[in-house]
Amino acid sequence: MARVSFVHVYKRFDKVDVVRDINLEVKDREFLVLVGPSGCGKSTCLRMIAGLEEPTAGEIYIGDTLVNGVEPKERNVAMVFQNYALYPHMNVFDNMAFSLKLRGVPRQEIKKRVQEAAEILEIAHLLNRKPKELSGGQRQRVALGRAIVRDAQVFLMDEPLSNLDAKLRVQMRAEIIKLHRRVQTTFVYVTHDQVEAMTMGDRIVVLHQGEIQQMGPPQELYDHPANMFVAGFIGSPAMNFFPGAQVVEDEGGVSIMLDGFGRVQVPACYVEKARAAKGRQVIFGIRPEHLRDATLLPAGADTASMIMAPVDVVEHLGSEVQVHMSANGTTVVARLDPRSHPVVGEPLRLQVDAEQIHLFDAETEKAYF
Ligand SMILES: Nc1ncnc2c1ncn2[C@@H]1O[C@H](COP(=O)(O)OP(=O)(O)OP(=O)(O)O)[C@@H](O)[C@H]1O
Ligand SMILES: [Mg+2]
Repeated sequence: MARVSFVHVYKRFDKVDVVRDINLEVKDREFLVLVGPSGCGKSTCLRMIAGLEEPTAGEIYIGDTLVNGVEPKERNVAMVFQNYALYPHMNVFDNMAFSLKLRGVPRQEIKKRVQEAAEILEIAHLLNRKPKELSGGQRQRVALGRAIVRDAQVFLMDEPLSNLDAKLRVQMRAEIIKLHRRVQTTFVYVTHDQVEAMTMGDRIVVLHQGEIQQMGPPQELYDHPANMFVAGFIGSPAMNFFPGAQVVEDEGGVSIMLDGFGRVQVPACYVEKARAAKGRQVIFGIRPEHLRDATLLPAGADTASMIMAPVDVVEHLGSEVQVHMSANGTTVVARLDPRSHPVVGEPLRLQVDAEQIHLFDAETEKAYF
C-alpha cells in the first residue's frame, strides 16, 4: 500500500518529449486508470513507476520515498504486462513462485502465498500445468497471480486484457475490480479502451501526446469533459460536434445556432458561460444518447431545443435505434428509443436535452461548459 506521485515528470526519447510535465498523485489504495490513444505515453509512465525507465526530468515518489535511480527490484511494485510473459517451461506454480524464490523467501511461505493467490484467482487446480496447456483467460490469471504473491505496495497493469476475446475481457474486468477490493493495494492500470477506464477506475487520467488532458472520476469526465479531446474520447458512440456554431442573444434568451440543423436554447445554468463565447468561433457538442425522437415526446414537451436533418443510415440494435443524419457536411449520430421509426432520406426532428449540452472554443478546443 502506498501512494504514487509524479512531480513535473518528463521523458524524452530521441529529442522528443513523449511524456510532458506530468503532475499526478495516485492515492493509497486507489484504482487509477491511465487511458489514451496508442503512443500517448501510457506505458512509459507505468514503466517509470516500475523503474524500467528513468524520467528525463522530474521526480517520482512511491509512498514518501523518492524513487528516481532506485532499482526496479527495490521498489516493491508488481507489474502485469500485456503479453503476460509467462515462462513456458515452468508450470503454473513455478511461474507464480519464481520472483519469491529469487528473493529467497522460505519454501513454506512460498507455498502458502502461491496457494492463497491461486485460490483467489480460482486456478488452484491448474498449478501443475504448463502455460501452453492453459486458455488465454487462465494465462491471464497466472500473470495476475504472479503479481499478487509479491505483496507489492503498488500494482501496475499494462493493457492486461487486450489479448482476450470480448466476453472474457468483460469477465476479467470484473475479476480485477474484485481483486483490487480484496488485496487493498494501489493499482495503476493502463488501457486505450475507454470502456475499461470508465468501468474500472476510481479515477481516470486521460493522456494525449504525452500530456494530461484531464483527471477525475469517470462520471465527471463524461459529464464535464474539459476539452474536445476528452469529450470525443470518453463515451461511445462519440460525442457529436457541430462546427460553425454561433452563440446568439435575443428577447428569447441565449441560444446556439447550429449550421444547417437548428437551434438550442441555453439553459439558465450555462447562460453566463455561453455569453462569454459570443462572437467567438465555437463548436457545439451533444452526445448521441442526449437526443430524442421528437415524434415520441409527450404532449406539451419543451420544443425550444430542436435539430432537424435528413437521415442517412438507420441501425436497429434491438435495445435502441442508432440514426446517422447529416447537414452541411456534419454528421450526427443519435441513439433513439427502439419505438422510433426514422426513414432514410426523410428529415428527422430530434429534441436536444439542453441540460446535457457542451460548448467548445474552436481555437483552443477548451470547454466553456
Ligand atoms: N525506448 C524507446 N525509444 C524511443 N521511443 C520510444 C521508446 N519507448 C517508447 N517510445 C515512444 O514514446 C511514445 C510513447 O510510447 P508508449 O509506449 O508510452 O505509448 P502507449 O501510450 O503505451 O501506446 P500503446 O497504446 O500503443 O501501448 C511513442 O511515440 C513511442 O514510439
Ligand atoms: Mg503501451
